[in-house]
Amino acid sequence: MEVVVVPTPEDAAPIVADAYSKLLAAKPKAVLGLATGSTPLGVYAELIRRHKEEGLSFAGCSSYNLDEYVGLPAGHPEGYLTFIKREFTDQVDFDPDDVHGPDGLADDLMKAASDYDQAIKDAGGIDIQILGIGGDGHLAFNMPMSSLSSRTRLKTLTSKTRSDNARFFDGDVEAVPKMCLTQGLGTIMEARHAIMLGFGKNKAQAVAECVEGALSSRWPASILQLHPHATVVVDEDAASQLRFTGYYIDTFKGKPDWQGI
Ligand code: GLP
Repeated sequence: MEVVVVPTPEDAAPIVADAYSKLLAAKPKAVLGLATGSTPLGVYAELIRRHKEEGLSFAGCSSYNLDEYVGLPAGHPEGYLTFIKREFTDQVDFDPDDVHGPDGLADDLMKAASDYDQAIKDAGGIDIQILGIGGDGHLAFNMPMSSLSSRTRLKTLTSKTRSDNARFFDGDVEAVPKMCLTQGLGTIMEARHAIMLGFGKNKAQAVAECVEGALSSRWPASILQLHPHATVVVDEDAASQLRFTGYYIDTFKGKPDWQGI
């Protein structure tokens, strides 16, 4: 696992966007794993800028969201497929038919979950999976104690996650759905490159536990310790409980320019 510590979230965006530029130059039909939440928005903004000003193209790409609430009406502004289209894919040249998310309105949610895993496989697997981290260490909607080898499935959100996400529902925790479909930790681990972002003091404990703590389902993002190509990009606030920050900073500074993350 590579840990990149940057002064502010704004400094993370070009470093992560470079990984996409490099991927798309080599593989224009890349498969992108996309995340919602506020954390990746700076990266999406930088990719949109590169599209508009530098011609970075997503025309041949397909994308798969990490997760989706169960039961939100189609087109609800906080539905994750709606979110990702609004915040990213509709602002670049992505074909809307190639933007996917789990179907939280399916009659048969279990089948929708396994079909989603299969669709990712059929697309050839995810090239870059971008990830945020929850304050309790969750990845996508894999709450603490999720199986470390789980597949896409139905999950119940913790009350902490529902109250964290109430800010997107006018502060009304009761409006936040209780269930979701989420890629499993095993599904996420199949992405060829996993990039996890964490910003702010409220992520500091989770980042420290997941990066430097023991591998444990109590801290679901700790599974990334087993990933052959995982990059964790954190700002100084989110890095504030890490113990090896000096090493991470020196290592990143010393990398050859061509290597990237
Ligand atoms: C939700 C999402 C996660 C995200 C987390 C953190 O639970 N399902 O994918 O990482 O929120 O959100 P934020 O980035 O807004 O802190």
